[in-house]
Amino acid sequence: MKLTNHSLVELDQNHHIHPFTDSKDLHNNGVRILEKAEGVYLWDSNGKRYLDSMSGLWCVNVGYGRQELIEAASAQMKKVSYYNTFFGTSTEATTRLAHKIASLTPEGLDHVFFTNSGSEANDTIVKAVKFYWNLMEQPNKKTFISRAYGYHGVTVATASLSGLEEMHPQSDLPLPNFVEHIEAPYWYKHGGDLEFEEFGLKAARALEDKILELGANNVAAFIGEPIYGAGGVMVPPNSYWPEINRICKKYDVLLIADEVVCGFGRTGEWFGSQTFGIDPDIMTIAKGLSSGYLPIAAAVFNNKIASKIINDGGEWIHGFTYSGHPTSAAVALKNLELLDEGGIVEHAKNGTGPYFQKKLNEFANHPLVGEVRGRGMIAALELVEDKEKRLSYSSDKGVAGYCRDLCLSRGLIIRAARDCLMTSPPLVITKSEIDEMMSILGQALDDTYSHFS
Ligand SMILES: Cc1ncc(COP(=O)(O)O)c(C=O)c1O
Repeated sequence: MKLTNHSLVELDQNHHIHPFTDSKDLHNNGVRILEKAEGVYLWDSNGKRYLDSMSGLWCVNVGYGRQELIEAASAQMKKVSYYNTFFGTSTEATTRLAHKIASLTPEGLDHVFFTNSGSEANDTIVKAVKFYWNLMEQPNKKTFISRAYGYHGVTVATASLSGLEEMHPQSDLPLPNFVEHIEAPYWYKHGGDLEFEEFGLKAARALEDKILELGANNVAAFIGEPIYGAGGVMVPPNSYWPEINRICKKYDVLLIADEVVCGFGRTGEWFGSQTFGIDPDIMTIAKGLSSGYLPIAAAVFNNKIASKIINDGGEWIHGFTYSGHPTSAAVALKNLELLDEGGIVEHAKNGTGPYFQKKLNEFANHPLVGEVRGRGMIAALELVEDKEKRLSYSSDKGVAGYCRDLCLSRGLIIRAARDCLMTSPPLVITKSEIDEMMSILGQALDDTYSHFS
């Protein structure tokens, strides 16, 4: 029996708890059921088409409906649909994927531990870092430092690492004696009179101040996203990350680059670490690794950490039933082939990425837009009440949410957080699709401005 749209909405309301959702609101409004996805477009069960400028959740880098990935999944399922990697076992797809990732990540990051999600990968990293410092006989090096507005996942440890304040009180987080948050390299809000690059050094030195306050022998690691994702796509000054490298090396603090959003071409290079000259000890990867077709993520360790754990650690008591799932691995491997040999990363870097940024920057003169910021295929518009004074609307106005809803009603998916509109389209988006996106966004900005002024 085919369910009607109405009965699906009812079933969802009665049985499905959605993540990051006010369920009461959703029940009043009714869920949207998607039925089809192709390229950069989605269609709902009423036949309405949307241009998805968020790549799902920053992940569908190769676009929807790629036959090659569907076939890779099917072929692997016919061979070995599933087996674990616990008992001295692997599959060709999983081992080849580990090798391929090591060949793409920066020099020295050669050891891959597979998980199913970015949260699990960061949680794995927390455990590995503690394990490493225990093996190094520096058991006091246990405090993590992360940043305001950071997003690193939703498990108990990774939500604690996250610097979005609303993620903490519902579940009594952050964990005690675990993490310290420092200020964000958020020039538009916190730059004051400083020039952009000058502010980058100041923001990085907040890390040094925090390490000195805690004592370097108590600090395990620093974690940050090369460009912020969910926190508002803040793009750091070029001075920021090299200074962070210097500080981490000086105080023997491990540097974790959370590349869950920035990885796999999003910033114009394979990794945000390459775009910003970050020299990480550990990388978190997810999302673009499989373009979201199947769940797979990983923690990638440098040789220093991996060799300590391998040579001196004995059995590492850690792992997931689906670590290195062969079907997810086969799909990820094919996805990396498309990004690499299919020239998608290159196309985004030199073709559509610059065009995307140029078109977005045309909104910089809009009376509602305080700042346009971005790199490659990720960007945000910060909406303001007063451009001169950089004055935000009061948060109860929900100006970005209003604009997002207008876009949605006109067939464009864009994300709102605080007063920011965020976008990270599939890397395969064409120039004419970018034009279509900008036309809807421009009208929505005009109408939002009229509504609020
Ligand atoms: C930078 C970053 N790290 C970690 C995560 C957590 O990944 P997941 O939702 O797969 O657990 C996310 C998710 O959006 C993210 O943006």
